[in-house]
Amino acid sequence: MTVKAIKGAIFHLVDDPAVVGTEAAAAYFPDGLLVLENGHVLACGARADLEPTLPKGTYIVDHSGSLIIPGFIDTHIHFPQLDMIASFGEQLLDWLERYTFPEEAKFKDPAHAEECADFFLDELLRNGTTSALVYGTVHKESADALFKAAFDRGMRIVAGKALMDRNVPEAVRDTAESGDRDSRELIEKWHGKGRLGYAVTPRFAPACSDDQMTRAGKLLAEIPDLLMHTHMSENTGEIDWVKELYPDAKDYLDVYAKFGLLTDRSVFAHCIHLGDDEFQRMAKNGAAISYCPTSNLFLGSGLFDLKKAEAHGVKVGMGTDVGAGTSFSLLQTLNEAYKVCHLKGHKLDPYKSFYLATLGGARALNMGDKVGSFEAGKEADFLVLDLAATPLLKRRLENCTSIDETLFVLSMLGDDRVICHTYIAGACRYSKP
Ligand code: GUN
Ligand code: ZN
Repeated sequence: MTVKAIKGAIFHLVDDPAVVGTEAAAAYFPDGLLVLENGHVLACGARADLEPTLPKGTYIVDHSGSLIIPGFIDTHIHFPQLDMIASFGEQLLDWLERYTFPEEAKFKDPAHAEECADFFLDELLRNGTTSALVYGTVHKESADALFKAAFDRGMRIVAGKALMDRNVPEAVRDTAESGDRDSRELIEKWHGKGRLGYAVTPRFAPACSDDQMTRAGKLLAEIPDLLMHTHMSENTGEIDWVKELYPDAKDYLDVYAKFGLLTDRSVFAHCIHLGDDEFQRMAKNGAAISYCPTSNLFLGSGLFDLKKAEAHGVKVGMGTDVGAGTSFSLLQTLNEAYKVCHLKGHKLDPYKSFYLATLGGARALNMGDKVGSFEAGKEADFLVLDLAATPLLKRRLENCTSIDETLFVLSMLGDDRVICHTYIAGACRYSKP
């Protein structure tokens, strides 16, 4: 057994501050110690309390002057949209046709998928994202490449090949039968291997036939720890289309529910235009929302109502939704989330922000018992933040008088430049050059 310790200022959230209050949710140790054993957290607290308990000769990594926080969790991102991020001028449905589907068609080629998977995961690490729920393309080669690259890096990643058998170009179309078969093959090969998990991934209701949706629901029910990952209620044109396709459904959520896809393992990206009743049924069934503000603003989709989701008790995590999202950085994503909340008439406080980007995201992905905070026994995925990453950031942070002010400034001014080291299961996997 190898024990090592990380020294520095440490901050984490052990619960939702909006539910239990900031006092109970947040823990800050200005002179802290994070004690690790075999890639897991053994203890986290004040150095004065923990240092005397360390076995003699324990190796201490000194990150004094930096802030140590849990790794960020991205609850919705598309790895094959790497090369068309920042594509001009369209809203969702035209953006898919004009930019997204042609780009995704390239992932039939395993060599292309492998090269992109490596770049993508390195970019996550560079931005401090240690876990993510990831869309592949329709091609099983894409998910296969991503799983392999994530396994090599030891990351806790959940992913799936997209199911899409109608209303999309042929180059990115499967069939109900082939989609089901490929998903099962990938589950057999990767689900539960190392820290990997599989998500059944119907792209969105308009792109999946009833047969495909039925098979997706069956697969989800069959294997108890799979996730389900899809899009819902993002764009008003999309919602009108769903109404046309499913005239008998009560609303958009009802379409997924009818096929057994509304569960406590289901993650729905966006949910901008949900009604109260949909929020209520989301909460009742334990489903989660991925809140993707940079994407929602970029595509002109609308403003998500975080307070409403919170009032209904729906699980929420942050999503970058690259490549409709415009940044891999969860800090930049929190920046936009704050502004969207402002426009909705409420204040997103920094404790809640960092909760959403860490433990809240972990809980949305049903991995809150494994990652997202520094509670003893959890996997040691964490970040060392450079509080002097830019001259302006250094200057502004020197004026901060509390940890909540520091966190807020980090979420406004911070981005990939702030990420000094990213540790995966106790091992440093990225260091800023
Ligand atoms: N809805 C269906 N597919 C997509 C996608 O790739 N991105 C976003 N933002 N919404 C979608
Ligand atoms: Zn998306």
